Amino acid sequence: METALVTGGAGFIGSHLCEELLGRGMKVVCFDNFEENYPKSVKEANIRGLLDDKNFVLVEGDVRKKEDVSGVFRQHKINYVFHIAAKTGVRPSVNDPVSYFGTNVNGTINVLDACVKSKVKKFVFASSSSVYGSARIPFSESGLTVPDSPYGVSKLAAEHICRIYHNLYGIKSVCLRFFTVYGPRGRPDMAPYIFTDRISRQLPVRVFGDGSSMRDYTYVKDAVAGLVKAMEADMGFEVINIGSSKPLKLVDFIGVIEKLLGKKADVAVEGEQPGDMKATYADISKASLLIGFKPSVSVEQGMEEFVKWYRESSSLVV
Ligand SMILES: NC(=O)c1ccc[n+]([C@@H]2O[C@H](COP(=O)([O-])OP(=O)(O)OC[C@H]3O[C@@H](n4cnc5c(N)ncnc54)[C@H](O)[C@@H]3O)[C@@H](O)[C@H]2O)c1
Repeated sequence: METALVTGGAGFIGSHLCEELLGRGMKVVCFDNFEENYPKSVKEANIRGLLDDKNFVLVEGDVRKKEDVSGVFRQHKINYVFHIAAKTGVRPSVNDPVSYFGTNVNGTINVLDACVKSKVKKFVFASSSSVYGSARIPFSESGLTVPDSPYGVSKLAAEHICRIYHNLYGIKSVCLRFFTVYGPRGRPDMAPYIFTDRISRQLPVRVFGDGSSMRDYTYVKDAVAGLVKAMEADMGFEVINIGSSKPLKLVDFIGVIEKLLGKKADVAVEGEQPGDMKATYADISKASLLIGFKPSVSVEQGMEEFVKWYRESSSLVV
């Protein structure tokens, strides 16, 4: 049986990935420090359904601590690593760059160092569209990266660390640049959750800028399919966009939620936020060519699933 280590496995994307890998008959070691970016109870709920699976192991540990990371590799024979753990969120990174670098750069080095010693078959890294910043849309992997936030810079630096570790030690790695991932168990600090929550409770929705900003929304199952395909593909080092390639204006995204909830949003317009990107738009031709990635869920379908989950679970988030 093959074993996958999923750092950040109790989080939004990580928990969906753990579920998928278990379903494929793999053993999964979920490594997470239950960072307080949102309540620990939400992360516990994310993986509650997996705890009874005999192939699922939960390890509470911190990627910033070398000993925590090497301990996991000592205890388990790891074949694949999905390095999903990160300090997330663009805006908070503006005021706290040091801690973003601590987790996203130094933490990545710690995990890669352990991989060097353990000869893993593939290292898959969760990068972000934030590395593109104010580059020209659509964002292509061969184009410029001009990050606008410390978070974006930390993700770009980590990608380069992956490249260097491939060159120096032969670690096969794939960096997936995710574009606004949403879906059930979605992070309570992200727009899909906040908008749904505020509109359904008839509270004002804060919109930064004039509403014309655009996001390329990716349904979580499509993001997970990209992660699995990256694990399976034979390649040395690659950077690949994972998005829908169908960007939506903020006002139109709010419109989708209004329709699903049957309620009108009370929009409060505010100034643009430092670090925010004007638009994200993924060119996914490389993803299609190299790993056969094809997004399959429209934003209307995906948000319907999200709203269903929100209605069943919103009491988890306080
Ligand atoms: N959700 C998105 O739209 C999106 C977009 C682009 C990139 N990403 C990247 O995808 C990954 C997953 O994002 P998510 O939305 O699921 O976020 P998340 O916050 O739900 O998950 C991240 C997980 O990492 C854990 N973690 C944080 N610091 C850690 C540490 N020091 N040691 C161990 N675990 C730690 C957290 O507790 C959390 O469970 C992140 O790397 C993020 O940067 C996400």
